[in-house]
Amino acid sequence: MASARVGDDVLGDDPTVIELQERLAQMLGKESALFVSSGTMSNATAIRAQTEPGDEIITEAHSHIYIYEGGGFAALSGVSVALVPSVRGIMDPDDVAKAVRKGDGSLGHFPNGSMVCVENTSNRGGGTCYSLDTMDAIARVARENDCTSHIDGARIFNASVATGQDVSRIARDYDSISICLSKGLGAPVGSVLVGSSEMISRAHRWRKMFGGGMRQAGIIAAAGNYALDNNIDRLSEDHNRARRLAEAVEQMPAFSVDLEQVQTNMVYIGCEDGGADRLVSRLSEQGVDALAIDECSIRAVTHLHITDDDIDRAINAFEKAQ
Ligand SMILES: Cc1ncc(COP(=O)(O)O)c(C=O)c1O
Repeated sequence: MASARVGDDVLGDDPTVIELQERLAQMLGKESALFVSSGTMSNATAIRAQTEPGDEIITEAHSHIYIYEGGGFAALSGVSVALVPSVRGIMDPDDVAKAVRKGDGSLGHFPNGSMVCVENTSNRGGGTCYSLDTMDAIARVARENDCTSHIDGARIFNASVATGQDVSRIARDYDSISICLSKGLGAPVGSVLVGSSEMISRAHRWRKMFGGGMRQAGIIAAAGNYALDNNIDRLSEDHNRARRLAEAVEQMPAFSVDLEQVQTNMVYIGCEDGGADRLVSRLSEQGVDALAIDECSIRAVTHLHITDDDIDRAINAFEKAQ
């Protein structure tokens, strides 16, 4: 990062940003890409570039876009949302089809369902991965209903490593993909939106209007390039460590883990009702950071700073926190 060659990314001439964008576009099998500051901004520009106010996006009921982005889809894009049920975060293509409403033919009653969003891996699903068949079928549903299709691929490389499918194959039939560099890939900041040149040039304008143009952004893009070189294949280590933690905690009488959820780098742990905050502080006292999700569940995530010894320490910490 310190030795990154930089320019001015608002003027479009930062060589390190250009390198990162071109690499990710190529890896995803798409024409173009746009470096942005966060996964939230990446989703926001994707939605704004592919919808009109009065449209509706279709997304899973616990998706990040719906739950954790401050209602940005409504405030910044003026769209409503149709929520789709899921099993462990994975939507059924038939349910997606049922959720698409069209303005035309509704006597003006319905919003216009125009964009289908799929989160892979699914965060609140437990870090679960879509099968290729389901990904393809949902993209087909989108096309048949005249909708664009978007992957919130904050952790798409985790999905790729866990399923053995190349990211370009996972994303083949999708119009846009948002990828976070700052999660499992280990960079300190940044996300990249990938898609057609035409869509990306619209997203570029929205990034500017959202205040997301960054000048000497090569300093942070350099970490993204490093992550693509060094931190993809090693994601399987995070997955193995998450699995070991999950299996150990599941054995403890005070906690429950749905082991079928544990497919990548996340472990959602159930505890007694009302006990989540207490559990997080007991773990914290022992140097283990976890996140309370609701009254009775917390989330632990493995990443490139977490070693096998750390997993042993975390298991001990859970034992003591019972
Ligand atoms: C699935 C998913 N999408 C998007 C985001 C947003 O990323 P950021 O925190 O960089 O805005 C997150 C963050 O946790 C996420 O889990």
